[in-house]
Amino acid sequence: MILTPVIMPVSRDAPLRTPARIQAQRYASRQALKACAAGCGAPTSGWEKNDRDVPQPNEGFFWSVSHKRNWAAAVIADCAVGIDVEHILPRDDQAVFDEVANQREWEVVGGRSWDHFFRIWTAKEATLKAHGRGIGAFSSCQVHTLVDDLHLTLRYDGADWFVEHYYHDHHIFTVTAVGDGIRWLVGSMDDDATVRDKS
Ligand SMILES: CC(C)(COP(=O)(O)OP(=O)(O)OC[C@H]1O[C@@H](n2cnc3c(N)ncnc32)[C@H](O)[C@@H]1OP(=O)(O)O)[C@@H](O)C(=O)NCCC(=O)NCCS
Repeated sequence: MILTPVIMPVSRDAPLRTPARIQAQRYASRQALKACAAGCGAPTSGWEKNDRDVPQPNEGFFWSVSHKRNWAAAVIADCAVGIDVEHILPRDDQAVFDEVANQREWEVVGGRSWDHFFRIWTAKEATLKAHGRGIGAFSSCQVHTLVDDLHLTLRYDGADWFVEHYYHDHHIFTVTAVGDGIRWLVGSMDDDATVRDKS
């Protein structure tokens, strides 16, 4: 199955950090999920989570969503999958560098920088989400190989996981590349969540 992750803009009508904005983020992620489902023949409803917030398979389709203030993303696959988005915005405190990766992992990606930080962060979150885990498991998920500018491998739970990054509007989107290829789609909320091909 070719993965077609969909990214969708979040409505900016509601102020940042308000419940209404969070709701808008979540809405955009579900619009992205609907677009994914339409593209791969998955069900249009029945996308439920368990009591730990972990997305549950729906008629054999696995799914993952991510949403930040201005962008949301979703992906559907025929096996466990994870997606994550982050705004590439340097923070004040570089102490987080040591929290996200160890010295060996930083060397693998070519040294400490904010760009590399967000690659590692989203790669680990996507991989852990594919396992139904959260950031509590960060240190047990390790960057293993730098493949190229858009791909990394990670090692988690005794297996290697390949991830692909996609950059858009100063954001990084990362998906576990579990399919036969990846075609990123960018959606628009203006015309009923239509998507266009970015491959
Ligand atoms: C899961 C987690 C990584 C999500 O990351 P985030 O940057 O906060 O949020 P994102 O927008 O990227 O993703 C949110 C989506 O992830 C999904 N999600 C939440 N928990 C998940 C999990 N354990 N596994 C997979 N997906 C999960 C949900 O669908 C959620 O969207 P929704 O609330 O609209 O349904 C993060 O919230 C986390 O680590 N939480 C702590 C969970 C945990 O580890 N608890 C045990 C203590 S260590």
